[in-house]
Amino acid sequence: MSASRTTGETPDYGTWIRTRPLVVFAILTASFLGLSLLMVITPWALLLLLPAGAFGYITLILALARHRFSNTGGQYQRLIHELIRSHARGERVLDIGCGNGHLAIAVAKENPQRLVTGLDYWGSAWEYSKQVCERNAQLEGVAGRVAFMKGSAAAMPFSDAEFDCVVSCLTFHEVRELQDKTEAVSEALRILRPGGSFVFLDLFSDPGAYPRQQLLRQRLEEGGAVDISDVPLASLMSLPFPLNGKRVLKHARLVSGRKQAG
Ligand SMILES: C[S@@+](CC[C@H](N)C(=O)[O-])C[C@H]1O[C@@H](n2cnc3c(N)ncnc32)[C@H](O)[C@@H]1O
Repeated sequence: MSASRTTGETPDYGTWIRTRPLVVFAILTASFLGLSLLMVITPWALLLLLPAGAFGYITLILALARHRFSNTGGQYQRLIHELIRSHARGERVLDIGCGNGHLAIAVAKENPQRLVTGLDYWGSAWEYSKQVCERNAQLEGVAGRVAFMKGSAAAMPFSDAEFDCVVSCLTFHEVRELQDKTEAVSEALRILRPGGSFVFLDLFSDPGAYPRQQLLRQRLEEGGAVDISDVPLASLMSLPFPLNGKRVLKHARLVSGRKQAG
């Protein structure tokens, strides 16, 4: 029985929109609005309404996106994980950049034969941790089949061909050690066994993260990928405002396929 049934405690999966930037932008908005009240002394203070408006708009977008990803606002984070999970195959599965473990745990819950590994570097920039992952796995009743490891997607602590399936959600573009983010895709294919499958969701159309668009295809082919499907997320599910914006998920694509059998 899962621990959450006996304790009433629910898993904490967090959302992709972090609390810290949201609070910082809210404070900036309030500060500039407050300072603009100096207009009673000098009309120049009216100019402070400009940064107040800009920061206010960013705060609004972040808050709305966070709401849409959450369980009360459409559960888009869960829906996207479900989409990735529905493509996952095999028994030994790795989730690269697992956050608080939602996708890894969902993949484990789907098939009682599965042994799932979640890897993340759990840096301070993110509000996720290995401890929370492990507690979530206990609460979901899959702690015996899901292991979480600290490591970087740039050079993972696994041997070649160790997994039947590799999944990853919105992580490769975050790998700071790599200037060319497609190298993380090559690394993911290295640890996939021949005949195994991969499912990657990332901002692959974002020219900031992936300036040389043809490189992704090249890396996939060099890594032995076949039967490649490469589809914009927006064509797989309808994304409401602001998730359809270019600063959120407009550039997201789901790339899946198999590694050629040996
Ligand atoms: C947008 S979050 C997505 C988290 C999780 N995949 C999900 O869908 O909930 C990006 C994740 O990438 C992880 N990450 C960033 N750079 C990484 C690296 N070099 N190696 C492993 N994980 C990394 C972060 O810690 C964070 O958990």
